[in-house]
Amino acid sequence: MGSQKNIILIAAATLALSACGPKGNSPNIELMQDMMVTPAIKAQSYDETSPHQMGMRVPAENTAPVGFVPYKFKGNVEGASKDLQNPLAGKMESDVLIVGQKYFELQCMLCHGQKGEGNPDSNVVQKMALKPPPLVSDKIKTWTDGHIYHVITEGQGVMGPHASHVPQAFRWQLVNYIRFLQKETK
Ligand code: HEC
Repeated sequence: MGSQKNIILIAAATLALSACGPKGNSPNIELMQDMMVTPAIKAQSYDETSPHQMGMRVPAENTAPVGFVPYKFKGNVEGASKDLQNPLAGKMESDVLIVGQKYFELQCMLCHGQKGEGNPDSNVVQKMALKPPPLVSDKIKTWTDGHIYHVITEGQGVMGPHASHVPQAFRWQLVNYIRFLQKETK
């Protein structure tokens, strides 16, 4: 008799608990404290326990991510312009251009315009003292692919480097996309 009573009690308790399940965004019942609210540190947040007080850790000294190839033309725009070869030179297939377009529209368009035309009317550019030049100009048409790659990697003048915005593996696709825009703008 006793054990039957227990079973009924357990069943009733389970029902009662499950009735307290999530409603909308409210959390479930917290049976074990601290399992639901973890002290997660956000990448951009201040963290006094981290070495640089940044939530995001800096890479350990003298290490490189797997697959990272050091840039041979660091600080050497002439060398890059002359000797840096585009392994995708002339490739205008859609699988190449679509990758280039993605990075162009994410990282370059806001300053240089959707078609690389330079866009002095954009809200961003209006506030800039030096207007980002067009990328479909005769000047850039005569640049080598290596020169464009170099400016993406290291920046130029007031334009900062975009190496961390456009991964190495996709930078030539971006160069080709700029070539495509140049062809489109006669
Ligand atoms: C925050 C705005 C901004 C963004 C984003 C930006 N640029 Fe620039 N870019 C500039 C400015 C300003 C200059 C002129 C800098 C100078 O010469 O001092 C410039 C110059 C250039 C030049 C040389 C143009 C010339 O006529 O000398 C190239 C090529 C270029 N950018 C490519 C890119 C590419 C590709 C991207 C995207 C990965 C990009 N830029 C992202 C602002 C930007």
